[in-house]
Amino acid sequence: MCGIVGYIGKEQAAPVLLDGLDKLEYRGYDSAGIAVFDGEKIQSAKARGRLKVLRELTHGGEKLPGNCGIGHTRWATHGIPSDKNAHPHFNESESIAVVHNGIIENYLKLKNHLIEKGYKFTSDTDTEVVAHLLDYYYKGDPLEAVVRMMHRVEGSYALGILFRDHPGKLYAVRKDSPLITGTSKTGNLIASDVPAILKYTRDVYFIQNEEIACLEEDSIHFYNIDGEPIEKEAVTIQWDVSAAEKAGYEHFMLKEIYEQPKAVLDTLNPRIRDGKIEIDELGMSDDEIKKIKKIYIVACGSAYHTGVTAKYVFEGMARIPVEVDLASEFRYRDPILDEDTLLIVVSQSGETADTLAALREAKARNVRTLGIVNVVGSSIAREADNVMYTWAGPEIAVATTKAYSTQLIAEYLLAMKFAQVRGTVTQQEIDEMVEALKQLPGQIELLLDHKEKIQRFANRYIAARDIFFIGRGIDYAISLEGSLKLKEISYIHSEAYAAGELKHGTISLIEEGTLVAAVLTQEDLYKKMISNMVEVKTRGAFLLAVTNMGNTEVEKAADYVIYIPKTHKYFTNSLAVIPLQLFGYYVALGKGCDVDKPRNLAKSVTVE
Ligand code: F6R
Repeated sequence: MCGIVGYIGKEQAAPVLLDGLDKLEYRGYDSAGIAVFDGEKIQSAKARGRLKVLRELTHGGEKLPGNCGIGHTRWATHGIPSDKNAHPHFNESESIAVVHNGIIENYLKLKNHLIEKGYKFTSDTDTEVVAHLLDYYYKGDPLEAVVRMMHRVEGSYALGILFRDHPGKLYAVRKDSPLITGTSKTGNLIASDVPAILKYTRDVYFIQNEEIACLEEDSIHFYNIDGEPIEKEAVTIQWDVSAAEKAGYEHFMLKEIYEQPKAVLDTLNPRIRDGKIEIDELGMSDDEIKKIKKIYIVACGSAYHTGVTAKYVFEGMARIPVEVDLASEFRYRDPILDEDTLLIVVSQSGETADTLAALREAKARNVRTLGIVNVVGSSIAREADNVMYTWAGPEIAVATTKAYSTQLIAEYLLAMKFAQVRGTVTQQEIDEMVEALKQLPGQIELLLDHKEKIQRFANRYIAARDIFFIGRGIDYAISLEGSLKLKEISYIHSEAYAAGELKHGTISLIEEGTLVAAVLTQEDLYKKMISNMVEVKTRGAFLLAVTNMGNTEVEKAADYVIYIPKTHKYFTNSLAVIPLQLFGYYVALGKGCDVDKPRNLAKSVTVE
């Protein structure tokens, strides 16, 4: 989604802004722009397309003098991607400049109202309403104008604002869209996401909902929605710059695939002590855990897929009924929730609009909530009753890999903790599972060592039209993820099916040479899976199998086999996902796709 960066300080602002926007490219965008204030006038440059165009237009920022500015990458919602709709947006006299993330839901009503008052609009965006509304309320005091604007607009927003009458000040405001401020040696910054300013500072302040920040070269003041001063404490970001850069890899996605052993280890280690599962941040007593009668796992996309896996694990291990729901469905379906329910929301960004809304819906109904979140200090992390962090580090590629893997780990650990407390597994079983978990990072490394084999296979499928992924039980869950990984970055149509369901319609799509990837890691389902594989093979399918080492039986049905190391039956997804991620990556690479920034997609989906 859109990205914001802002700077005020001793350096020329434009290069700092372009540099920050560069780091936000991964969020997905279709146009970009900056506005820089030299103390007399606010000059801007905007361009449709990649940042490179904006760089060329401004000679790397040189053409825009001034030490204070705001920048934006836009992912179109209201109005097509174009120069005119790119941010920053201005009031008519160009004395107020605004960049915006989010959606102003009542923008049409406000726009009509402003048009009646004589305001002229030059773009199709909802953002432009903010610039004119600020102009309408501005009577000499910017803070007052910002406060009045905040009381009028509905929806979500993170805003960076410049007032020409007030050199040396940059305003930042947020509601339901992330925004941080940071202090550096040469000045102060704002950004919608940490990587944008990590090169300059690790000391940040999280602006909370309906708060305002006023940045000057050497100070930052914070205010509430009534314009009253408030105090904030800085938080030190633990990642370093290299964590947010490619470090010699061709793509962030490949780098992040390779970071999985560490990410898994970092998520596991703090929660296994003396062979026991200890999740301090759970905030639930053993009695409270015993009382839970139902768990909802709610999320979107890949995070939802980890929930599908977790359902099998929780139900199998802890014997608690689990319902997994897409956040966009859950929030509108009036789910049956009571005090014995636990709602788990899973999110890498912690800002996904539907997941956040589902969390709020559950909280409003007094249901206990737990967030499994990667981005520290994000909205879901702050609003959930308790938060269990996945320690994947910054994930830049749009297609998730390491965050997915750490979400699985967090869910396994939770299921084990619940099973331990509720007495549905023996200590010996826990010991075996802990042992299996500890081996996962090494086993993932082993799979990564064989990436060339997958690359060779993937190269044969860059011209494929349709690819199917099938599996049963937990393997169905991994098929969902394998299919999404492939289609989102390679643009090849792909579907995941519960293997037994294929013959109820979809098998009619199988033609001579159609690739079917069959995942079979559950020993008790091997035979059933092999029957399903034979069904598609006899209709012409080419069969790729992903299965456990030693299951050579599969070679009778499959045309190509990828073996994964043996692990506990509940944890096989953590290994099977690796070849599937690599397959998606190499097919997309072979097709020449923009792997890290697939078309139409955004890293953090902060709109409904
Ligand atoms: C796919 C992918 C998305 C996200 C989904 C939820 O590779 O990354 O499907 O999983 O948009 O995002 P988060 O986890 O940030 O809530």
